[in-house]
Amino acid sequence: MAVLKIRTLPDPVLRQKAKKVTNIDGSVQKLIDDMIDTMHAASGVGLAAPQVGVSLRVAVIELPEQELITLINPEMVKRQGERVVQEACLSVPGYQGETKRAVTVKVKAQDRQGKEFRLKGEELLAQVLEHEIDHLDGTLYVDHIESPDKLWKLSEQL
Ligand code: NI
Repeated sequence: MAVLKIRTLPDPVLRQKAKKVTNIDGSVQKLIDDMIDTMHAASGVGLAAPQVGVSLRVAVIELPEQELITLINPEMVKRQGERVVQEACLSVPGYQGETKRAVTVKVKAQDRQGKEFRLKGEELLAQVLEHEIDHLDGTLYVDHIESPDKLWKLSEQL
Protein backbone atom coordinates (compact mmCIF):
# COMPACT_ATOMS: atom_id res chain seq x y z
CA MET A 1 0.00 0.00 0.00
CA ALA A 2 1.36 3.39 -0.89
CA VAL A 3 0.33 6.97 -1.29
CA LEU A 4 0.78 7.93 -4.93
CA LYS A 5 1.42 11.32 -6.48
CA ILE A 6 -1.78 12.97 -7.66
CA ARG A 7 -1.53 14.31 -11.19
CA THR A 8 -2.82 17.81 -11.73
CA LEU A 9 -3.69 19.89 -14.78
CA PRO A 10 -2.22 20.16 -17.38
CA ASP A 11 -0.91 16.57 -17.06
CA PRO A 12 -1.96 14.87 -20.33
CA VAL A 13 -2.92 11.60 -18.58
CA LEU A 14 -5.95 13.44 -17.20
CA ARG A 15 -7.15 14.04 -20.78
CA GLN A 16 -6.78 10.50 -22.09
CA LYS A 17 -9.66 8.07 -22.45
CA ALA A 18 -8.74 5.35 -19.97
CA LYS A 19 -8.56 1.72 -21.11
CA LYS A 20 -10.97 -0.95 -19.98
CA VAL A 21 -9.61 -3.39 -17.40
CA THR A 22 -9.66 -6.84 -18.99
CA ASN A 23 -7.80 -8.79 -16.31
CA ILE A 24 -8.22 -7.89 -12.65
CA ASP A 25 -4.80 -9.17 -11.67
CA GLY A 26 -2.44 -8.44 -8.79
CA SER A 27 -1.29 -5.18 -10.31
CA VAL A 28 -4.89 -3.93 -10.48
CA GLN A 29 -5.49 -5.00 -6.86
CA LYS A 30 -2.36 -3.10 -5.82
CA LEU A 31 -3.47 -0.08 -7.84
CA ILE A 32 -6.85 -0.09 -6.02
CA ASP A 33 -5.16 -0.36 -2.59
CA ASP A 34 -2.78 2.47 -3.45
CA MET A 35 -5.66 4.60 -4.77
CA ILE A 36 -7.56 4.10 -1.49
CA ASP A 37 -4.46 5.15 0.49
CA THR A 38 -3.96 8.15 -1.79
CA MET A 39 -7.62 9.21 -1.51
CA HIS A 40 -7.46 8.97 2.29
CA ALA A 41 -4.16 10.89 2.47
CA ALA A 42 -5.67 13.68 0.36
CA SER A 43 -8.98 13.65 2.29
CA GLY A 44 -10.82 13.13 -1.00
CA VAL A 45 -14.23 11.52 -1.49
CA GLY A 46 -13.27 9.94 -4.80
CA LEU A 47 -10.29 9.18 -6.99
CA ALA A 48 -9.93 7.84 -10.52
CA ALA A 49 -6.90 5.92 -11.78
CA PRO A 50 -5.82 8.59 -14.32
CA GLN A 51 -5.36 10.92 -11.35
CA VAL A 52 -2.48 8.73 -10.20
CA GLY A 53 -1.10 8.45 -13.73
CA VAL A 54 -2.70 5.11 -14.67
CA SER A 55 -4.96 5.21 -17.71
CA LEU A 56 -7.29 2.40 -16.65
CA ARG A 57 -11.03 2.43 -15.93
CA VAL A 58 -10.83 2.17 -12.16
CA ALA A 59 -12.23 4.53 -9.51
CA VAL A 60 -12.76 4.54 -5.76
CA ILE A 61 -15.35 6.52 -3.83
CA GLU A 62 -15.78 6.98 -0.11
CA LEU A 63 -18.31 9.44 1.22
CA PRO A 64 -18.31 10.37 4.92
CA GLU A 65 -19.86 7.64 7.09
CA GLN A 66 -20.36 5.39 4.08
CA GLU A 67 -18.83 2.25 2.74
CA LEU A 68 -15.98 2.43 0.30
CA ILE A 69 -16.99 1.71 -3.30
CA THR A 70 -14.56 0.30 -5.84
CA LEU A 71 -15.60 0.66 -9.46
CA ILE A 72 -13.93 -1.24 -12.28
CA ASN A 73 -15.11 -0.43 -15.82
CA PRO A 74 -18.03 1.68 -14.57
CA GLU A 75 -20.70 2.74 -17.04
CA MET A 76 -23.41 5.33 -16.63
CA VAL A 77 -26.73 3.57 -17.24
CA LYS A 78 -29.16 6.36 -16.42
CA ARG A 79 -29.11 9.99 -15.27
CA GLN A 80 -32.17 11.79 -13.98
CA GLY A 81 -32.86 15.32 -12.88
CA GLU A 82 -30.53 18.25 -12.62
CA ARG A 83 -29.21 20.31 -9.75
CA VAL A 84 -26.60 23.01 -9.30
CA VAL A 85 -23.68 21.85 -7.16
CA GLN A 86 -20.35 23.07 -5.86
CA GLU A 87 -17.52 20.98 -7.16
CA ALA A 88 -13.77 20.57 -6.74
CA CYS A 89 -11.14 18.06 -7.81
CA LEU A 90 -7.81 16.93 -6.37
CA SER A 91 -6.37 17.32 -9.88
CA VAL A 92 -7.41 20.99 -10.02
CA PRO A 93 -6.01 22.17 -6.68
CA GLY A 94 -6.99 25.53 -5.25
CA TYR A 95 -10.17 25.91 -7.28
CA GLN A 96 -13.84 25.34 -6.78
CA GLY A 97 -16.69 25.74 -9.21
CA GLU A 98 -20.36 25.47 -9.84
CA THR A 99 -21.69 22.79 -12.17
CA LYS A 100 -24.94 21.07 -12.96
CA ARG A 101 -25.19 17.40 -12.13
CA ALA A 102 -27.87 14.73 -12.19
CA VAL A 103 -29.97 14.24 -9.06
CA THR A 104 -29.93 10.45 -9.42
CA VAL A 105 -27.79 8.14 -11.49
CA LYS A 106 -27.62 4.43 -12.12
CA VAL A 107 -24.22 2.92 -12.76
CA LYS A 108 -23.05 -0.57 -13.57
CA ALA A 109 -19.54 -1.69 -12.83
CA GLN A 110 -17.43 -4.60 -11.66
CA ASP A 111 -16.15 -4.96 -8.12
CA ARG A 112 -12.57 -5.94 -7.32
CA GLN A 113 -13.48 -9.62 -7.61
CA GLY A 114 -14.73 -8.94 -11.13
CA LYS A 115 -18.38 -9.39 -10.22
CA GLU A 116 -20.78 -7.06 -12.01
CA PHE A 117 -23.03 -4.91 -9.85
CA ARG A 118 -25.43 -2.01 -10.23
CA LEU A 119 -25.49 1.02 -8.02
CA LYS A 120 -27.97 3.85 -7.63
CA GLY A 121 -26.66 7.17 -6.41
CA GLU A 122 -28.54 10.22 -5.23
CA GLU A 123 -27.37 13.79 -4.66
CA LEU A 124 -23.70 13.77 -3.51
CA LEU A 125 -23.12 10.14 -4.49
CA ALA A 126 -24.64 10.82 -7.92
CA GLN A 127 -22.34 13.83 -8.30
CA VAL A 128 -19.22 11.91 -7.31
CA LEU A 129 -20.13 8.97 -9.58
CA GLU A 130 -20.51 11.36 -12.54
CA HIS A 131 -17.29 13.15 -11.62
CA GLU A 132 -15.22 9.95 -11.37
CA ILE A 133 -16.64 8.35 -14.52
CA ASP A 134 -15.91 11.63 -16.32
CA HIS A 135 -12.26 11.28 -15.28
CA LEU A 136 -12.09 7.94 -17.10
CA ASP A 137 -13.09 9.71 -20.31
CA GLY A 138 -10.61 12.54 -19.87
CA THR A 139 -13.26 15.00 -18.74
CA LEU A 140 -12.82 17.30 -15.74
CA TYR A 141 -15.49 19.22 -13.87
CA VAL A 142 -14.06 22.47 -15.18
CA ASP A 143 -15.27 21.36 -18.63
CA HIS A 144 -18.84 21.59 -17.32
CA ILE A 145 -18.45 25.15 -16.02
CA GLU A 146 -20.80 27.38 -17.97
CA SER A 147 -19.06 30.72 -17.51
CA PRO A 148 -15.76 31.97 -16.03
CA ASP A 149 -17.48 33.48 -12.99
CA LYS A 150 -18.63 29.98 -12.00
CA LEU A 151 -15.03 28.96 -11.26
CA TRP A 152 -13.07 30.60 -8.49
CA LYS A 153 -9.81 30.35 -6.64
CA LEU A 154 -10.34 29.18 -3.09
CA SER A 155 -7.95 31.80 -1.74
CA GLU A 156 -10.19 34.53 -3.16
CA GLN A 157 -12.94 33.46 -0.77
CA LEU A 158 -10.80 33.88 2.34
NI1 NI B 1 -11.64 14.77 -9.74
